[in-house]
Amino acid sequence: MTLMTPELLSLKSTIEDALQHYLPTNSEISPMLVDAMRYSGLSGGKRIRPLLVCATCTGLGGALEDALAPACAVEFIHAYSLLHDDLPAMDDDELRHGLPSGHIKYGEATAILAGDALQALAFELLATAPGSRTDVRLTAVQVLAEASGWQGMVGGQSFDLASENKSLSLTELQSLHAAKTGALIKASVQIGALFGNPNLDAETYVLLTEFATRIGLAFQVVDDILDVTQTTETLGKPAGSDQKANKSTYPALLGLEQARAHASELLAEAEPMLKRAGMQHDLLNVIAHAIVDRVS
Ligand code: IPE
Ligand code: IPE
Ligand code: MG
Ligand code: MG
Ligand code: MG
Repeated sequence: MTLMTPELLSLKSTIEDALQHYLPTNSEISPMLVDAMRYSGLSGGKRIRPLLVCATCTGLGGALEDALAPACAVEFIHAYSLLHDDLPAMDDDELRHGLPSGHIKYGEATAILAGDALQALAFELLATAPGSRTDVRLTAVQVLAEASGWQGMVGGQSFDLASENKSLSLTELQSLHAAKTGALIKASVQIGALFGNPNLDAETYVLLTEFATRIGLAFQVVDDILDVTQTTETLGKPAGSDQKANKSTYPALLGLEQARAHASELLAEAEPMLKRAGMQHDLLNVIAHAIVDRVS
């Protein structure tokens, strides 16, 4: 990702260490499953969602160490979603993070099961996150479940597949993107807020949620744009995958220029909300800009 400041790079490296720490290292019953989980969880990626959890938590005065378990939980859901997204039954993509996709490396059954296990690990981690109150953990589990499941990422993935070879209206496409990608990004900020300040006032929580809703949507708009404008080498995943499957995307519906303008508009709407939330540092703002200005 471009526009990574030294502060974000250092936070990313702390997150990488935590991911290493929380992933299992061996299993007597299925070493291959654990290998596949580690392959998927540690093979790279921008770590946008855990960065959002940590930046929100510390921006509200919380301790970074309290944000790491929830940050990894969200990233494990993301890793599982990518494992399944690349399967032949879904996007049928053979490359992820510049490496063979999980099902190419380990076979379909193990890729499916590693995704399932990463999902369960995410909820285990959130339910047992150190240094947090029981009510915070319970609410966070609820937030992550809603963002991941039928109303969120999984629902959006189903909508995405059902929309291949169709032309959706802009409103429909917005709901699709808000669910498949926006929900988990929104949840990252909400969970960061819960752990950062369990007594946060409702107004700030709503402002952060509104901010996150916009950058979550912008994230998928930009992902769609990059699928058309970047090379496979830069992306580390097959360029042109959306066109190949005749997906419903922002560039397909609006054209590239309008899609780019839409991502910028969403960022412009999100910024004042973040300002009003009164964070203690500007890391969330830096991440929001990086989401829109990135090239991979
Ligand atoms: C890719 O997400 C899948 C989408 C939701 C668009 P990212 O672009 O965050 O994936 P990595 O983890 O950084 O590769
Ligand atoms: C996937 O969207 C969103 C997920 C929930 C994984 P894409 O299918 O566009 O993600 P990429 O482009 O393969 O990373
Ligand atoms: Mg997909
Ligand atoms: Mg895909
Ligand atoms: Mg994509």
